[in-house]
Amino acid sequence: MRIPITERLKTAAEMIGQATVLCDIGCDHGYLPIYLAEKGQIQRAYACDLRDGPLKTAANNITAYHLKDRIQTVKSDGLHELSEFSFDVISICGMGGRLIAEIIERDLDIAGRAKKLVLQPMSEIPVLRKFLSENGFLITEERLALEDRRFYVLMTVEKGEEIYRDELDYVIGRRLFMHPDALTRDYLSKEIRRFSEILTARGGRDKAPEIDRILEELKKIEENRI
Ligand SMILES: C[S@@+](CC[C@H](N)C(=O)[O-])C[C@H]1O[C@@H](n2cnc3c(N)ncnc32)[C@H](O)[C@@H]1O
Repeated sequence: MRIPITERLKTAAEMIGQATVLCDIGCDHGYLPIYLAEKGQIQRAYACDLRDGPLKTAANNITAYHLKDRIQTVKSDGLHELSEFSFDVISICGMGGRLIAEIIERDLDIAGRAKKLVLQPMSEIPVLRKFLSENGFLITEERLALEDRRFYVLMTVEKGEEIYRDELDYVIGRRLFMHPDALTRDYLSKEIRRFSEILTARGGRDKAPEIDRILEELKKIEENRI
């Protein structure tokens, strides 16, 4: 039976790579751990969610794929219930960047026990980048996924020191452009268009110098690196 996994979650699965035990926070349908277990990328997983409805759906799907012995559902607000569990990778996908930051902040010690975190914020990505750098986490990789004509940013994170030169770097996410390909080029063009529109709406470079700086930096990346 084919697992209905999306491009976005497939990319998260690639970034998770091989793991012994995965904790998937906000598992909803549970397809990410199911896909990884089916592909042999993980030995076991905890599929965690705050709400009973998603946990029930995940449990039904886990049973349908005959993975009950390898994936356990856990009712947990963020990382809260994981204090007694052993795991090596945490994934938090499909939530706002601010909520992901709050979930990690509430249980920093538990998050810090993971060898790797794979995060996929739906919004407020600069807030998440800044939070991570201020709380002893290093983004080692950022990637894009394109699904239904929408770009999604995914990041691999581990304990470490992140040095940002400038507040502007939280917005730009330079790691996204380290391995330029067609997807990054399209994303960059879209970001340039988006910030140009914001600049116009705010009355131009004199009225919104910070937007102008972001735009100039994005154009520099486009000219120099891609
Ligand atoms: C939009 S779904 C994302 C599902 C899946 N991770 C994905 O990316 O497709 C968000 C899920 O996160 C759960 N959620 C929201 N806040 C949470 C929290 N504090 N702790 C655990 N789960 C949470 C919701 O119940 C929902 O099932």
